[in-house]
Amino acid sequence: MPAVAYVNGRYGPIENAGVSVEDRGFQFADSLYEVVAFLNGRFLDWDKHLWRLRRGLASLFIEGVPGEAALLQIAHRLVARSRYSDGLLYIQVSRGAAKRDHGFPAGIAPTLVLTARRFDFAQRLPQLEKGVAAISLPDQRWARCDLKTTGLLPAVLAKQEAQAAGAFEALFVRDGPDGRKEVTEGGSTNMYMVDGRGRIVTHPVSARILPGIARDTLLGLARAAQIEVVERPFTLEEARAAPELFLTSTTAPILPIVRLDDAPVGAAAPGPVSRRLGEILWAEVRRQTGWRS
Ligand code: PDD
Repeated sequence: MPAVAYVNGRYGPIENAGVSVEDRGFQFADSLYEVVAFLNGRFLDWDKHLWRLRRGLASLFIEGVPGEAALLQIAHRLVARSRYSDGLLYIQVSRGAAKRDHGFPAGIAPTLVLTARRFDFAQRLPQLEKGVAAISLPDQRWARCDLKTTGLLPAVLAKQEAQAAGAFEALFVRDGPDGRKEVTEGGSTNMYMVDGRGRIVTHPVSARILPGIARDTLLGLARAAQIEVVERPFTLEEARAAPELFLTSTTAPILPIVRLDDAPVGAAAPGPVSRRLGEILWAEVRRQTGWRS
């Protein structure tokens, strides 16, 4: 079965789906997206993704998107059509299509696109055991990284560079207030270090990072398991010296980083805190979806 798409009311194979060349998503990246995992046919953290989408739409003044019940119905229909049990649902909303002009055009309806693609989550289990590599790169993105817009060019370039270096992810670094190099997040992931006391340290939610859904879930589970969480920016220097680094995202959902810029992280193998969090997060995935590898 090919991947399937929904575009403004029509369902069909992804190859036949399209939007206007005047769509503002294409012209200006005047658009937002969400990536939701489904496993065993069930969505993971659906409500949190919808909350983030609504918040983004309100921030960009995009109105007229179907309500949550309607979106859930479309999403269920699309996944049912795809016949995939495990995959990724993309929801993309642009301001709509109109003659090119930067200001908001009057009276246009937003473009709503959903796609469902197969995704093999089981591939993450050996990666969780082995860990992955990352490279550090300057964070060249704009000042509203909390909005999940489709304007992903800095992430595209950084992730391509990581891929060319044989790394899984690019770790973004920005100048902090005192000129120190601070780790913000990954090209498409949130970033964490474990400090010498076994605490999880991660950049606080701000305009410099995406408020990741896997981040939110992980930090909640960690606190419930009595693992201390410190939300503060950490530096590249601290990351290099940390016993453990790891990342989270919808598609990961958690992976230890065992090499950073060609130097080993800790013992160059997943450490005890990352392993424990891996168990806890996958248990939550199984609890929500009934998924078994
Ligand atoms: N990426 N930070 C950035 C810059 C991201 O693009 C993502 C998600 C995350 C993690 O967020 P979440 O836990 O909600 O997936 C953090 C998605 C998966 C993507 O673009 O493919």
